[in-house]
Amino acid sequence: MTKIAAIIGGGVIGGGWAARFLLNGWSVRVFDPDPQAERKIGEVLANARRSLPGLADVAMPTEGALTFHASIAEADAGASWSQESVPERLDIKHTTLNAVQSACDPLAVIGSSTSGFKPSELQEGALRPGQIMVCHPFNPVYLLPLIEVVPTGRTDQAILETAKSTLTSIGMYPLHIKKEIDAHVADRFLEAVWREALWLVKDGIATTEEIDNAIRYGFGIRWAQMGLFETYRVAGGEAGMKHFMAQFGPCLQWPWTRLTDVPDFTDELVDLIAGQSEAQSGAYSIRELERIRDNNLVAMMRALKAQDWGAGALMNAQDARMKVGTPLSARVDDLDDLSQPLLTLSRAVPLDWVDYNGHMTESRYLDAFAQSTDRFMEIIGCDADYIASGGSYFTAETHIRHLDEVHAGARITVHTQMLLGQGKKLHLFHTMREGARVLATGEHFLLHVSLETRKPTAPSAAIETAMAQISAAQAHLGYPEGAGFAIRRPA
Ligand SMILES: NC(=O)c1ccc[n+]([C@@H]2O[C@H](COP(=O)([O-])OP(=O)(O)OC[C@H]3O[C@@H](n4cnc5c(N)ncnc54)[C@H](O)[C@@H]3O)[C@@H](O)[C@H]2O)c1
Repeated sequence: MTKIAAIIGGGVIGGGWAARFLLNGWSVRVFDPDPQAERKIGEVLANARRSLPGLADVAMPTEGALTFHASIAEADAGASWSQESVPERLDIKHTTLNAVQSACDPLAVIGSSTSGFKPSELQEGALRPGQIMVCHPFNPVYLLPLIEVVPTGRTDQAILETAKSTLTSIGMYPLHIKKEIDAHVADRFLEAVWREALWLVKDGIATTEEIDNAIRYGFGIRWAQMGLFETYRVAGGEAGMKHFMAQFGPCLQWPWTRLTDVPDFTDELVDLIAGQSEAQSGAYSIRELERIRDNNLVAMMRALKAQDWGAGALMNAQDARMKVGTPLSARVDDLDDLSQPLLTLSRAVPLDWVDYNGHMTESRYLDAFAQSTDRFMEIIGCDADYIASGGSYFTAETHIRHLDEVHAGARITVHTQMLLGQGKKLHLFHTMREGARVLATGEHFLLHVSLETRKPTAPSAAIETAMAQISAAQAHLGYPEGAGFAIRRPA
């Protein structure tokens, strides 16, 4: 399968898809009749480059090539994925899908970003209905993993499976919705919440800002990590879900919602909402709000990674996939060359590592070096299984030199020289770079301990052997410039 995606319609959503594919190593061919499309996609891409690579704890693939084309036929040439993100009108979707199918590989995936149309509606009058399915993303497409994949009974099973595995490979979560319905699943919630919110503003109960606060200071944070049902299961306490349902069951009969009733969509209502929204957020430009949103999303998703939960667990699984077959997953015996400092980190600087000075904050240098130390331990055999068996390394002393600044999104590497690895002692010297530029060095002295007694002990024979191999191979390197330093007391 070629790693070429055709992006048909390059607005907010098409631009996000373009960024998602490009940053995952695909080449992207765009068709959009808007002469401003190239500029708009460039802006989405700049946001994506700043935020997505740092979500991963390993380096992402090299970016693919981005090209713009004068027709759908030209954009679709050679593509194995064609994503339609044109305006939400069925006639435009049909014309577009027909043009795509006249040009594309019959085995290519054709995904539609439609928020509301059912896949059977998109397939009406198609040349090959089996190729078309809904692949509904969430804005920003380059950060949020969810894709609602909605096929019909006519959708080709092999193409459906390709779609799901391709989405997984670019860090997304294909939620396969087995039965089609208007607006799929997620947008039905959003529509329900939206209707309720329109009523609350129209009836003067709450302003747009008060409603946003009601969401973001409370249940919005809960939903990001456990969703609806798991949250309520916990809320039911030890008695669980049945108790929770019994407690709130009667509310279903009470006037707790106006969902069955729709407010009239009048100019007055639009002006009321738009005016309140301007008062609430008008101090920021849309680009500023996008960046604030992306910073927050990255910070939240990285926090969930540390818990290996929800969207964070998805990201960790994606990191593990990206590491396979790279030097970052090898052990000492698999590494070709032990004679130079070993690559122990290759990643982008995440948004949440950057401080008020606009560069990587000092504690994150230690964070990066700690990841390198963990990786070095893994190389010599001190991995999760070994630690579970009762042995590990504790850091006794650290000395970091901050030599140059580095910004969010920059790709950094760390190479590690072993200065001493003998018995319980492990002395490491890490060098962090962006390209050839040295950013920092970190010197760490560690002791092997028994996790039972919490006291220093000798490591396993296998670890001793691995350290001896590295020691012999790196002996010629000598003491690096910058090692053995301390901040001295003035004479
Ligand atoms: N905005 C969202 O939050 C969101 C979320 C999920 C899905 N969607 C869906 O994505 C689709 C696109 O929405 P959007 O928000 O990106 O809209 P948009 O208006 O930002 O972008 C639409 C793009 O399509 C281009 N276009 C118009 N006619 C075209 C044609 N015939 N061929 C190719 N390109 C054409 C326009 O120039 C524009 O750049 C819709 O189906 C929408 O329901 C939107």
